[in-house]
Amino acid sequence: MKQVRITGVGSYLPERIVTNDELSRTLDTSDEWIVSHTGISTRHLAAPGESTGSMAIAAAKRAMADAGVKPEDIGIVVLATSTPDHADMPATACDVQHGIGAVNAGAFDLIGACAGFVYGLEIARGLLQGDGRPALVIGSERMSGIVDWTDRNTCILFGDAAGAVVLETCDAKGHQFYGSVLHSDGGGADLLCRTGGAWRDPEGQMVRPGSVHMEGKPVFNFAVKAIPRIVTELAEKHCIALQDINHIVAHQANFRIIDAAAKRLEVPRERFYLNLQNVANTSSASIPLALDQMDEAGLLKEGDLILTVAFGAGLLSGGNLFRW
Ligand code: ACO
Repeated sequence: MKQVRITGVGSYLPERIVTNDELSRTLDTSDEWIVSHTGISTRHLAAPGESTGSMAIAAAKRAMADAGVKPEDIGIVVLATSTPDHADMPATACDVQHGIGAVNAGAFDLIGACAGFVYGLEIARGLLQGDGRPALVIGSERMSGIVDWTDRNTCILFGDAAGAVVLETCDAKGHQFYGSVLHSDGGGADLLCRTGGAWRDPEGQMVRPGSVHMEGKPVFNFAVKAIPRIVTELAEKHCIALQDINHIVAHQANFRIIDAAAKRLEVPRERFYLNLQNVANTSSASIPLALDQMDEAGLLKEGDLILTVAFGAGLLSGGNLFRW
């Protein structure tokens, strides 16, 4: 079986930065509450002309440039998103494929909420084993379009962004991409969902799409258990000692979740990358955005062992283990 590795990474953040103080002008909240309960200080929000597709295109172009891969060489575009630009069809991935000029690629959307990117990476890895051409895996979310800006329980948590990686086969000996674990607990689907939907009811009336509904406490409790479970499962499956993992890149939802998970695992918190203070929860964009920022900051060295772990609506969870 061919080896697979990430050869390029890129991201896009909208220009507009919104502080907690700005939110507290229209919402019964405060910078003190948001920082102490979540760790979030600011988030980037998309401008009116910016879409999930346009952000994904920007991130994908950067990832391809980083990898030195031409658009026409891409075999598949996997777009993880819960905020597509079109209701049901066509897939936003098709806009992205066209927008980047990946004229020979297939394309599809993947709905995996905050775990979408780790699912996408594993699916692309499988496709790559068969096809051999570079795969683009993108997480892009315009969460600002689906949150209820009057609901302080949810709207303060999210931001808009896109992140992308190029995955290619390689000749290097040893495992570059060890594998993934993917889980689903549909019994918790009601805890975190988008209410309503864009369809016609039996009388033929258009039903308005709703906004994000989340029961924070049970989702919090799920997340603090999901991270240690995924990390332990992945490490044991591939006979890796936890202390040999250089970076754990967890979904950026709440610093208290990451802190609690680190304690449960008895892994120093410093091994977990944190950027949620500046970008908030960007759902499926969270992990590729973090990888790009880590790469930009020079934190990722050739051969570093990286474990990604994500959790979110579904309730889905999963992770990937690979060498940089
Ligand atoms: N500002 C001020 N007060 C607030 C705010 C706010 N923004 N939000 C809630 N409160 C209030 C509540 O109304 C409550 O008041 P009450 O006691 O008078 O009823 C009080 O603060 C405490 O609320 P809790 O819900 O107990 O706060 P908690 O400490 O649980 O933090 C939070 C809430 C941050 C949402 C936390 O539960 C959390 O992070 N949950 C997990 C979210 C998550 O990780 N989602 C990931 C997946 S996202 C995806 O897949 C799309």
